[in-house]
This record gives sequence, C-alpha cells and structure tokens, in this order.
Amino acid sequence: MRDKILELLKSNESYLSGEDISRRMDVSRTAIWKHIQALKQEGYDIESHPRLGYRLRQIPDRLLPEEIRPRLNTVKIGRGGIHYFSEVASTNNEAKKLAAAGCAEGTIVLAEAQNGGRGRLSRGWFSPFARGIWLSVVLRPPFSPQEAPKCTMMAAVAVNRAIRRVAGIESGIKWPNDILCGGKKLVGILTEMSAEMDAINHIVIGIGMNVNIAPEDFPPDLAPIATSLAAEAGKPVSRLELLAAVLAELDKIYQHATAYGFGEVLQRWRQESVTLGQEVTVLGVSKQFSGLAVDIDEDGALLVKTPDGIEKVLAGDVSIRPKQ
Ligand code: BTN
Repeated sequence: MRDKILELLKSNESYLSGEDISRRMDVSRTAIWKHIQALKQEGYDIESHPRLGYRLRQIPDRLLPEEIRPRLNTVKIGRGGIHYFSEVASTNNEAKKLAAAGCAEGTIVLAEAQNGGRGRLSRGWFSPFARGIWLSVVLRPPFSPQEAPKCTMMAAVAVNRAIRRVAGIESGIKWPNDILCGGKKLVGILTEMSAEMDAINHIVIGIGMNVNIAPEDFPPDLAPIATSLAAEAGKPVSRLELLAAVLAELDKIYQHATAYGFGEVLQRWRQESVTLGQEVTVLGVSKQFSGLAVDIDEDGALLVKTPDGIEKVLAGDVSIRPKQ
C-alpha cells in the first residue's frame, strides 16, 4: 500500500486529493492519511493542502533501496539484494557476514552512517550521516586469490569514471586504490577476501566516498588531506545518481574482466593514475625507500625505480607518499 501511494504521488506532478487516492486504492482516507504521515517520517517531502490534497515535493536524500532499484542499470551488482542501514558499525562487516552465510553475488550493503567504519592499515574511516556513500559489494569472482588486488583496481577505475561522469571533476587514482582530487582524498577502497589456496570464496569491496561533506566538517586530522565531491564541484552532488553510476560502472568492468581478464582494468588504471611518473616514498613494515613510480606490472604491483634497480611493491601493509 505504502509503495503504491508513493508510486502514485511520483507519477503526478500536481495535487492528488485524499479522496481520489482512497478511491483508487480502495481504502479509507484515514488509512491514506496514516501512510502519508509515515512517508513524511521517512523523509519524503509531501505537501498537504486542505482542499487540493497531497503533492510530492522531493524524495528524501537517503539511499533507500526502493529509490535505488529503479535507477539500477546493472546485470549483477545490486541484483543479489540491497541491505540498507540508517547506522551500522561497518558495511564491510555486514557484507562479510552475509557472504559467509551464502548471499548471492552482487549483494550490496549501504549505510547512511558508520560508527566503526574501517580503512586500510587498521585505520578508521570517517562516515558521517547522509554525507557520503558507505558501500560494500559482495563478489564471488572466478579469479585466483593472487588476483584479488586487481579487483580493487577494478573498483578504483569504475568509481573514478562514475565520479568524472556525475560530478564532472578531475579526479585520479593513487596507487593502489585511493581516488584523489587536487592531492586530497575523495574515496578510499578496502577489499577483504575469504579464500582457499587456489580459489576465492568471496570478496567484499568496501567503498567510502566523501560526497557532500563540507571542508569544515572534516575532523582536524583529516581536513588537510581529505576533500569531498561537493567541495570540488562547488555544488551538492546527488548521492543516488552517483551510487547508480558507481554500480553501473562496476558491473560493466566486472563483466568485462570476468570474460576477458584484467588487461582493460590495468590499461585504464595507468591512464587515470596520479602516481605514475611521481617521485614516491614507500613505507613498508620493515623497509622504507624512495624512487620514481614508473609503471604497474601485470599483477598490479607498483614498479619503483631506485638507484639499486626496480623495486616491485605489492599492496598490503604499504603506504606511499609523494617524496618530500
Ligand atoms: C581506505 O582508504 O583506507 C579505505 C576506506 C574504506 C572505507 C569503506 S566505507 C564502506 C566500507 N565499510 C568500511 O568499514 N570500510 C569501507
């Protein structure tokens, strides 16, 4: 009933009287009134006029599954199920639980806010309410566990293309998988895997996108190094539109990689990289060195030219910085 009323309101730009809706739905006007109140509670901006009736002014700025479904332009991603939380510790944790319990490939988990958002290298992830896209995607790829890092690169190129398409800003990829704009971080990706020696059970790709966060709202430690799409575009960005674009781009490139391998992912990654050609410092657990980032190899490892020769850097417990 709720969904039908919403559909009716969406398909009408002008007012619909309570009487008209109740006749079409064959329920009392009081029942209609109650559903309208519930929709308003959910954040739908519905104008109630004493004589003219009801009019939908705006849908809420929420990533509600029923708003995502009609915007889905995918074969697999988002088709396995959409799990939505107003607040949760970490969407990756929820996705890992669902994956371990056997959920379908393409299942996605979204939250308006995370109170235990996780980043790479055991860092936290700032995830304020309704200001970003905090998303996890469950994949069951036919690749070997050694190829998992390339799945992260695949997510990075998909997200980068979606950002450029929807927000029209000049973003680029920092190895292995951050998206930056003007040297500041817009997006972080955390991939977690469950695998046997020779096969992947599942991969959870966690994507954190700073969408409509005002620069002054970042905590002081992040403010100098983080930015948001709205800050860079100079106007708010529709999270629903951006999410739909991310899911569509990921779906497309995942299908391509499954059918033809990662050649295209690596090619696009090279073109969109802000790391290649830069002097970098690599901070590993046991070793630190500087050199020129010259390329990535077919495994996605970063190749850094140092006075001692080419160093091959695999993602993992490594962070890289521009050389000071
Ligand atoms: C990083 O750059 O350190 C990776 C950040 C990944 C953050 C996302 S937000 C959605 C998902 N859930 C989490 O707890 N982390 C990832």
